[in-house]
Order: sequence, then C-alpha cells, then structure tokens
Amino acid sequence: MSSTKEAWGSRLGLILAMAGNSVGLGNFLRFPVQAINNGGGTFIIPYLVCFVLMGIPLLWIEWSMGRFGGRHGHHSTPFILNSMSSKPIWKYIGVFGIFTNIAVAAYYCYIESWTLSYAIHSIKGTFSSLSQSSIALFFDDYINLSTSFLGIPSEAVFFFIICVVINTYILSKGLAGIEKVAKIGMPLLILFGIFLAFKGLTIGTTAVSEQFPLANAWDGLNYLWTPQYDSLLRPGIWLAAAGQIFFTLSVGMGTIHCYAAYVKSKDDIALNATTAGFTNEFVEIVLGSLIVIPIAAGYFGLDWIKEHMSFGMAFQTMPFLFNQWGAVLASVAGVFWFGLLFFAGITSSLAMGTPWMGFMSDEFGWNKIKGAISFGLMVLALGLPCVLFYKYGYFEQYDYWAGTVSLVIFALAETILFAWIFGLTKGWKEITTGADMTVPTIFKFIIKYITPVLLIGVFLGALITPVNNNWIDAFSYLTTNGSWPFDGQSLILQITNTEKYHALSLATDPQAIELIKKEIFYSNLARTVLLLLFIGITALVYFAHKRRSKSI
Ligand code: PHE
Repeated sequence: MSSTKEAWGSRLGLILAMAGNSVGLGNFLRFPVQAINNGGGTFIIPYLVCFVLMGIPLLWIEWSMGRFGGRHGHHSTPFILNSMSSKPIWKYIGVFGIFTNIAVAAYYCYIESWTLSYAIHSIKGTFSSLSQSSIALFFDDYINLSTSFLGIPSEAVFFFIICVVINTYILSKGLAGIEKVAKIGMPLLILFGIFLAFKGLTIGTTAVSEQFPLANAWDGLNYLWTPQYDSLLRPGIWLAAAGQIFFTLSVGMGTIHCYAAYVKSKDDIALNATTAGFTNEFVEIVLGSLIVIPIAAGYFGLDWIKEHMSFGMAFQTMPFLFNQWGAVLASVAGVFWFGLLFFAGITSSLAMGTPWMGFMSDEFGWNKIKGAISFGLMVLALGLPCVLFYKYGYFEQYDYWAGTVSLVIFALAETILFAWIFGLTKGWKEITTGADMTVPTIFKFIIKYITPVLLIGVFLGALITPVNNNWIDAFSYLTTNGSWPFDGQSLILQITNTEKYHALSLATDPQAIELIKKEIFYSNLARTVLLLLFIGITALVYFAHKRRSKSI
C-alpha cells in the first residue's frame, strides 16, 4: 500500500470494506456456538452490554487512532501508537497490531478454504446422496487430509493454497481490490443470508422427522431470545460475550486502524464507525442466529443442538439438512451457505493483510506486490502446520493466543494510551472532528473509566478462570482452603499445559498416551512459532525506528 497515494474510492466503499472486515466467519460460525453453549438467553444480555460498553468505544478509538496516524503518514499500529506518545515502548506494543493479523490469517484462511471447497462440492452435488453420517465423515476425512480432489491427494492442502493465492492476488491490487471485493461480496452475502434466514424462519414444525418428533425451529429462537437475567452475575458468560464482541467486530487487531488510516483527515469517522459496527451486529444477531440454529432445531430439536453445537456443525450437518429440501434447492442452499461463508471470510482475511503491507510500505518502501506476496508466503508457512497438525490442536493454539488473548491485551493497552496518555480531551476531538453524528457525551466517561475497567476484568477473568467457570464456588473455596481453584482453561494453566499433563498421568492406553504427547509437542511448537513471529516483527519495528532516526 503506497502510503502517499492509497485512499478509499468512496464512502460507500469504505463502509462496505470496514463492514466486510468485521463481518466474518465469526458471525456465522462462532456466534451461534457461543450463544448456545452459554445458555442462549443468558448470553444475549452480556453480549449486548459488551457491544455498547466495549465494542462501540473501541470502534471509535481505533478509527480515530487510525485517521490520526494516517495524517502523519502511518498506516500500521507500531508507528500510529508511537505518534500518540513520547514513550518509546508504544511502538513495540503496536507490534501486536501486525502480529495478530498474520497469525490469525494463518488459521482463518484455512477455515475459509473449507468454505470454498464445500461450495464447489455443493455445486458438484457431492452431498446430495450422502446420509447424515457420511456427510459428517466426509468432514472428518477432510480435516484428517484423507480426501482428494480432482486427483490431487490432499484436498485440504490444495484448497488452503488456492485460498492464500486468491487473497494474495486481491491484496496485490491494494485498497481498490479490497473495495471491489467488498462491493460484490457484502451485498451477495446479505442476499444469501436473507434467503437462508427466510428458510430458517419458515421451517417451523413442518420438518418434524420420525426420529425427532418434537423438533421445532422456534424452540431454537426462543431459547436464544428469551433473556435470562440471572446470567448477569456469572463472569464466565461475560468473558465469553466479551470475547465474541472482540472477535466479531475485529477490534484489538490493528485492521481497523489500518483501514481508517486511509480516510482523509477531515472525513467523518464517528458515523462511519457506527454504521460499520451496526451492520456487523445486524448480520450477526439477525442473520447469524436465523440460519444454523432454527434450521437444525427444526429437524433435530433444541436438545440435539445443545448437545452437538460446535463450529464444525456448519460443515457436518448443514449439507444434510439442505438435502431435505430436494436436490435442486439443496444445491442452491449449499452454494448460498458456503458462498456466504466464503465472502464473509475473504473480506476479513484481506483486512488482515493490510497492516503488514502498510507497515512495509511506510517503513521500507515495499510496493503492493512485494507486500502481498510476502504476506501470502508468511500465511502459507504459518498456516500449513495448522492444516497438517489440526488434529493435535495446533490450530487451537493460534486461535487462543493470537485470536483471543492478544486482542484483549492490545485493546486494553490502546484504550489506556488513548484515554489516559494521549488524553481524552484530544481524543474526543479526534472522534468528533468531521463527525456526521452527535456522539453522546456519556461516552467520554465510558471510554475513560468503564471500557478500561471492563477490559481489565476480562483479562483477569481469563487469566485466573476458576474450575468450571464457577466464580462463586471459587471464592468460597478460597476462603476455606486458602488457594484458588484454577480451571484447565485459565490462561495460567494453559501456559503450563497442566490439563494435558494431568491427562497424560492418568492415561493407560499406549495410543492415548502417544496422542497426548503429540498434543503437548504441537502446542509448544505452535507457541514457539508465534513467539518467533512476534520477535521477528519487533525486530523490524526496531530497524524501522533506527532508519527513521537516521534520516531525521
Ligand atoms: N471479525 C472477523 C469475524 O467475525 C474476524 C476478524 C478478526 C477479522 C480480526 C479481521 C480482524 O470473523
């Protein structure tokens, strides 16, 4: 991205690109899983509160930081953050805003490649004659690398490479390429989504099967949309809700800063940010909840969903459910569903390429082609182990450390920088300059106090999650036993692989022992790779800084 000439073509293009950045696989695959696994109606209130108290403020913070940085010729977070404080440390904290993108892109492009492959299989009619268990098996074979496509042995590897090549090609066209994809992809996605949501809404009880006589699509929706206020006192649900808000809005990543850095210095950001954020929420809350949940509930019932909800359901079960609509409609629905997922995915993965490209262009004069190809090569190198060692949990490590923990750390750091170091007086001016809407002044207070406190809460909650996420029991355990009952999922026990070592100590079957050992090995490998990536980008920032000081 040439830092001087690149700019968004139009306001619509910018909003669609930003909405495309946010609307992603998270809206359709992650949201329903989080919502169902956290109790449906108990999830929705913390989710909406997190949207207002963390999501919206972070969107405004990131957009205004981006535009501020862009005005000074910076398009990626290391030097955007650097320009907001005189302390040298901030440019290194900004490393997160490049690191997370490359690491997340590595596994995200892999899932994106599943959607591409499944869309093609839907066109080919691969699933039309398969039973439910064969469709589920197809997915297992796919991720275990045992399916082939057109004579090419490993279909998963093949589609992953194709997906990275497509991303690289579009990125090499710069913002114009991204804008074009968003202008085509977003409307199509909404159209496909409305069609599937309509089917979801109208399934009702007509689809009752003998095996599941009580199945009713509306049960799924009622479960999700009947608010349960008791959840307000359960921190575990708040953590899940906050995590979903981060992931779905793409905050704490650095992509929003980068996109906003190409906005003209007097152009509105307040309304643009709000529009893009609400578009994402519409897609998530309305379309994201009206497809998988009611369709699966309509055929299998709510109890089945509660038991089986996982993000693989979109691949393992949906093609079978579409088959109930007859051959032609099944193919159409398959193409719409996986096409929708593909468009949602690609407009997000493209965003992940831009901070790296912006950085290399600003600091080392790299052109778009060099930037795009280098990004593609990194994604390939970091992503291939995700493909090859998926079953050993390699992929999950990237998702946890780069796609979850890093986002919270970075969001907390940038909020402190913006509200407390750069200062909210200047910060508020940044948000409201050129604004086409009145930003409610209550957000001054929210950004300064509420957002950082909530972020600290979320971080601590993840750091010391107690057994079964049950905080009330944990505190009484603490008072009686004097120690904190950490859950295996807490950040602290994850670092030490405690749960895996515990499982290893209990395992007796040689095969199970072998598997756990491999899981430990590949977890450590994934973390080492991530650490090296972080160190590598930090070194680049250091060199860039040296170059800058020399040329002054
Ligand atoms: N928001 C995207 C989703 O919902 C994921 C994403 C995260 C995209 C960070 C860009 C940056 O899937």
